[in-house]
Amino acid sequence: MNKGIQAPDISFVVARSYPQNIIGCDNQLPWRLKGDLKRFREITTGHAVIMGRKTYESIGRPLPNRKNIVISRSQDADSTNRSFWDPERALYWATTRENALFIADALSITSHKRDIFVIGGAEIYKLFADLYYKIYLTLVFTGKIDGDATFDISFENDDGWKLIEEQECAKSEVDEYPSRFYIYKKKKYNRRYVNPRDFLKIDPLAEKWLLQHLDEIEKANLEHQESLNLFDQQLTLAASR
Ligand SMILES: NC(=O)c1ccc[n+]([C@@H]2O[C@H](COP(=O)([O-])OP(=O)(O)OC[C@H]3O[C@@H](n4cnc5c(N)ncnc54)[C@H](OP(=O)(O)O)[C@@H]3O)[C@@H](O)[C@H]2O)c1
Repeated sequence: MNKGIQAPDISFVVARSYPQNIIGCDNQLPWRLKGDLKRFREITTGHAVIMGRKTYESIGRPLPNRKNIVISRSQDADSTNRSFWDPERALYWATTRENALFIADALSITSHKRDIFVIGGAEIYKLFADLYYKIYLTLVFTGKIDGDATFDISFENDDGWKLIEEQECAKSEVDEYPSRFYIYKKKKYNRRYVNPRDFLKIDPLAEKWLLQHLDEIEKANLEHQESLNLFDQQLTLAASR
């Protein structure tokens, strides 16, 4: 049976305070950490990033060199002065998780990208909590601070996760607190498969965009499948070492 196209993997990128798990305060990051922002840029550049409307407003613009997918329940493009499909600025608004995934999958597959990054905030991490494969996690050693958004999932003592990288980052002139960076990945991961033609059922805006790109997506998939298979073989090899 044809399962469809193997969809890109979903990863979270998040920085949280230790020990309270705070990620934000008054719709801002509660710290200045230039080193962490640089790493965030390196991890996500070139990829599709999915974020909540509040995080988008907090950043204030589409992130450069990334495909920005912003989730909001509001469909009112006029009153919020939004363009729902703005490929020139690589900015795409989605009203549901499925729609956000459709856009992220389609954009990633057509540009041969293997990963999609969910970049927050708290509501959006919860919305994708059953779907992510890897987490790029920074613990920021702030001590007790004020905050109104948290990320509370624990990895350290959870047998379902494998630590694949760990790095100490010192406090410095440009990094307000010391921090520790981790990459965890799930030991068991159910891959997603998508059929581009199923996307046509999602919504009329998606349909219009997809009809313009369907050929491109299906062609990309044929070429892409080989590199995905190769990637999987490498992953299996690495895991067995
Ligand atoms: N430390 C970090 O790594 C990090 C990363 C990112 C963000 N942050 C921080 O996190 C805070 C923001 O987080 P937040 O939880 O308040 O907001 P958020 O997750 O960024 O955005 C929430 C918004 O997303 C939309 N939304 C949520 N669920 C939805 C659904 N099921 N369907 C459609 N739309 C949905 C709604 O937009 P509408 O109201 O428009 O409908 C909702 O108001 C800020 O302080 C930010 O600085 C921290």
